[in-house]
Amino acid sequence: MLDVDGLTTRYGAIAALRSASLHVGSGEVIGLIGPNGAGKTTLLGSIAGLLSPDAGTVRFDGADITGAAPEKLLRSGLALVPEHRRIFVDLTVEENLRIGGITVKAAERADLLDEMAETFPVLRDKWETPAGYLSGGEAQQLAIARALMSRPRLLMMDEPSLGLAPVLVDLVFELIERLRSEGRTLLVVEQNAHRMLEVADRAYVLRSGEIVAEGTGSELRARDDLFDTFVGGT
Ligand SMILES: Nc1ncnc2c1ncn2[C@@H]1O[C@H](COP(=O)(O)OP(=O)(O)OP(=O)(O)O)[C@@H](O)[C@H]1O
Ligand SMILES: [Mg+2]
Repeated sequence: MLDVDGLTTRYGAIAALRSASLHVGSGEVIGLIGPNGAGKTTLLGSIAGLLSPDAGTVRFDGADITGAAPEKLLRSGLALVPEHRRIFVDLTVEENLRIGGITVKAAERADLLDEMAETFPVLRDKWETPAGYLSGGEAQQLAIARALMSRPRLLMMDEPSLGLAPVLVDLVFELIERLRSEGRTLLVVEQNAHRMLEVADRAYVLRSGEIVAEGTGSELRARDDLFDTFVGGT
């Protein structure tokens, strides 16, 4: 479904991502783990059209989407839950969700709103509340629900459990499990490396802008050398 080949992205003179390649198959849950500053956000941003890669290609269902605009990517079925959520704090829960569904037809958007209200009861209870009043856990659920409103075929999430209390971290992982059981395709950046490896089919390890390992959870967990470098990986 997603094929990233030799992707390199620079910030000025600094190459934050160096010739990264990865593959996500339909229905797979793929983890992307690595220490702070490894280039995880840069990689997702380069796939999602938020950053322009300097070299390499991104193909989605065979089509070359390298450097395409985010809105075009959203229409073609690729959604990102960005780092730090980036919800619209002055807009209500419902308004945030409607914006997430801007690329789908009105009738489908109405169905999706019902679906989100059912899937996320905490959001249904705060439907008319400005998003700025939500707790961290509620805001994260809103960010995920907003991305689901575009009916993505590939959902990417950048650190969905960041800054949440332990019970809410559990909730995020339960949600990942649920999306997985629905057969959705996910690419998830997570600092909770061990937990991500439990729910992922496979994972890639990024370090200093390079992908240094790939494998199943059990394959990667056996690599003590890798885990020494993870923040929160103990
Ligand atoms: N806008 C920017 N301008 C310059 N350098 C940047 C910019 N954004 C990120 N970097 C640098 O690029 C490298 C990769 O950053 P990136 O945010 O992709 O890492 P990350 O793996 O997502 O880290 P974290 O775990 O902290 O979210 C880091 O060295 C960072 O300092
Ligand atoms: Mg990041």
